[in-house]
Amino acid sequence: MEGFTWPRRQDFNRFLRARKIKQRFIARPFQQCYIDLQFQGNTMAEISAPEFSGKRIALGVSGGIAAYKAAEVLRGLQRAGCLVRVAMTRRACEFIQPLTFRALSGSHVIVDDYAPDNPDPIAHITFSQTADLLVVAPATANLIAKFATGLADDFLSSTYLASTAPVLIAPAMNTSMWKHAATQRNVATLRADGVHIIDPDEGEMACGTIGPGRLSDPERIVKAALEILRNAAAPRGQDLTGEHFLITAGATREQIDPVRFLSNRSSGRMGFAIAEAARTRGADVTVVAGITSVEAPAGISLIKTESAEEMYEAVRDNISTATVFVGAAAVADYRPAQIEKNKIKKSQRSLVLNLERTTDILESVAATRRDGLLVIGFAAETENLVQNALQKLTQKKLDLVVANDVSRADAGFDSLNNSILMVPRDTKAPVELPLMSKAQAAHHLLDEVVRLRSLAKTSTAAQQKQAR
Ligand code: PMT
Repeated sequence: MEGFTWPRRQDFNRFLRARKIKQRFIARPFQQCYIDLQFQGNTMAEISAPEFSGKRIALGVSGGIAAYKAAEVLRGLQRAGCLVRVAMTRRACEFIQPLTFRALSGSHVIVDDYAPDNPDPIAHITFSQTADLLVVAPATANLIAKFATGLADDFLSSTYLASTAPVLIAPAMNTSMWKHAATQRNVATLRADGVHIIDPDEGEMACGTIGPGRLSDPERIVKAALEILRNAAAPRGQDLTGEHFLITAGATREQIDPVRFLSNRSSGRMGFAIAEAARTRGADVTVVAGITSVEAPAGISLIKTESAEEMYEAVRDNISTATVFVGAAAVADYRPAQIEKNKIKKSQRSLVLNLERTTDILESVAATRRDGLLVIGFAAETENLVQNALQKLTQKKLDLVVANDVSRADAGFDSLNNSILMVPRDTKAPVELPLMSKAQAAHHLLDEVVRLRSLAKTSTAAQQKQAR
């Protein structure tokens, strides 16, 4: 597709050098962009990887007070190696000038494809079809409504309709607007359409109200964008069509008193990665999530829970339609025997908490399974990985156990990557995989599901033949 190029930062600097333009001669807004917009620390450097080099991001900016934060999103994506082009709505230009994004991206910023200075006569087509990902930050209630209904009356909404790339939107608006049934309906529609959504943060808004509606942290938006790019690069195929996955993800939270609880560091990433991978391979997916710190993938049914008991009940209520169950959640094994009605006072020198066992969700699913349901469990271990995994496989009567060493700093809990060891029930031979992204690990797990399923089909066919 011609008409648009995705200039790299180095090329823009070369452009300045070739014309002997010194930084101090650049208009003040340009200079400020270079000087002021920085991420703190090296967090972005950590996620910069060759896999993102040259990935093309179309960044849409709509009109809200948070529009200026889109510049940080742009810089974060560039630091990861991506090439970013920007499109703005007319209202966004009232909050921040296109010039800022032009300076940062080194490229023409499109507001109106009919504008005489637009270098491409059908910009919404070329812009959308040459991108690997469309990110919209901030997305206003109005823009979300347009996306949800398919209204294409400006450049950004036309681009959304014309795009075949994955879409990530980060809403930002007044709390009441965010909570309004119409907005929530539109957001649900977009989720069902496969759009990735980063829920807004809670906090004090520009209008003075306190609640959800503030644009999510730019760093979180960048990380979510990179995770989508990573997943898009993973192998695809529709080999799980007809399967219905029920997956648990995240941490449970066991209340001690009104302000304290027992929990763990599970982010939900592993469970969500399996959900996303299964969906892209054609499966229907329901996730029963506990407390999570990352966004749920698009195109799945999400049931939110908190305690182990709530998670158990949600699994019990949804297991009848599932064909594959995956227990990726870090479920509390114990909970306080009694929840104090009032905050426990700091009066004693020491405090003894009386704990009782929670229901083992995985064990109960395996014990009451119908024919054809595959049951997969995780094992979070800090030692003797193989031995403990084998023990869980037989004790809990699983089809597959996926063990991970949770003492490692670079894998397991709240990490982008994981290093898993899988033991299937038929061979009992451990398959150890190196450190890889959770998306890649999820695909390996699903390959094992496909193999176990074909095994089951072969043995059923053999039994039927024998019976004849
Ligand atoms: O969420 P992330 O930050 O991405 O981290 C991923 C992870 C480390 C949490 C994940 O990869 C993982 O290991 N999940 C299982 C954690 C765990 O609780 O392991 P376990 O060995 O204690 O439990 C064994 C299995 O029984 C697990 O499948 C667990 O979901 C299940 N279980 C445990 C207790 C209980 N009451 N009910 C359960 O279903």
